[in-house]
Amino acid sequence: MTLPNLPRFSLAHLPTPLEEMPRLRTALQNEPGQHPVPRLLVKRDDQTGLATGGNKTRKLELLVAEALRLGADTLVTTGAPQSNHCRQTAAAAARAGLACTLVLGGNAPMLDGGNLLLDRLFGAEIIFAGSEDRLIAMQHAVDDLAAKGHRPFAITYGGSNPLGAAAYALAMDELVDQCAERGIRLDHVIVGSSSGGTQAGMVVGARALAAPVQIHGISIDLAEKTLVSNLVTLGQQTADLLGLDLTLADRDFTVHDAYLGGGYGVMGAAEREAIGLLARSEGLLADPVYTGRALAGLLDLIRTGRFAADETVVFWHTGGLPAIFAYEDALRG
Ligand SMILES: Cc1ncc(COP(=O)(O)O)c(C=O)c1O
Repeated sequence: MTLPNLPRFSLAHLPTPLEEMPRLRTALQNEPGQHPVPRLLVKRDDQTGLATGGNKTRKLELLVAEALRLGADTLVTTGAPQSNHCRQTAAAAARAGLACTLVLGGNAPMLDGGNLLLDRLFGAEIIFAGSEDRLIAMQHAVDDLAAKGHRPFAITYGGSNPLGAAAYALAMDELVDQCAERGIRLDHVIVGSSSGGTQAGMVVGARALAAPVQIHGISIDLAEKTLVSNLVTLGQQTADLLGLDLTLADRDFTVHDAYLGGGYGVMGAAEREAIGLLARSEGLLADPVYTGRALAGLLDLIRTGRFAADETVVFWHTGGLPAIFAYEDALRG
């Protein structure tokens, strides 16, 4: 099967680099214990190029193209106060000459740093949902804008509708090509998974390309059963949107929910250790909420002998850098 081209509004620097992490591998090999350490690579979607990068750039290329096709004048989306998706949406709106309204969960935090600071710099209007459900609050914002004569385009939480997820089916094609060019046998991909569009798209892409790679979603906030069910639904809708003759089921999705720690957005010892190890060994940054947790999951899977030494594991770095600056105290430990 081949993946179709979809209309894009160009935002991303593609292909993102695929880099070896030899010093992280050596650090893990030098630890006490007998765990085999696979070859480790990192797919640098923290370098997608839009507003400090991240996985939402690829999704937004397709979503903004659709918004422009429909004649929208305002992007509206929702997320947590430190949402990377909201920050990237605000930047994408600026690039496309659109207005942006962000509906953020809860109340305004005391500290206006990290992603929230950037949201404001990109000129987004920010509404805090307070005690209201943020999806309902987002619908109110959409209705208010329409009542004032605007043409809002609502982007679902995390950009994870079938069109957004399709971007990661195409991204999987990019990774498979990079591996083929360099003679790398791709065995496993590790990625942080939350609203699910990234993992669902990757799995659809891998199935469509018949690539024998296992994609491990490290759940950021949901129990395995819930996330798998979301992934099956979104994956199937994504495959249908792409016109692929695929049927997806629970067994297509590998999810690890052992790393939820204190819950969404709570950085604990595991994330702190993972962030520090990556920084010291490779000079790379992971964030406290998503990639730090996903990396902590990868380290645990390696230390518990999940992979063979002759396998290749790609850690798909999905960005999140600005959140570091909203977690300074927690990172100091
Ligand atoms: C840095 C980062 N990594 C991973 C994810 C998870 O991606 P998805 O919501 O598509 O599962 C997010 C989502 O917000 C993110 O911001």
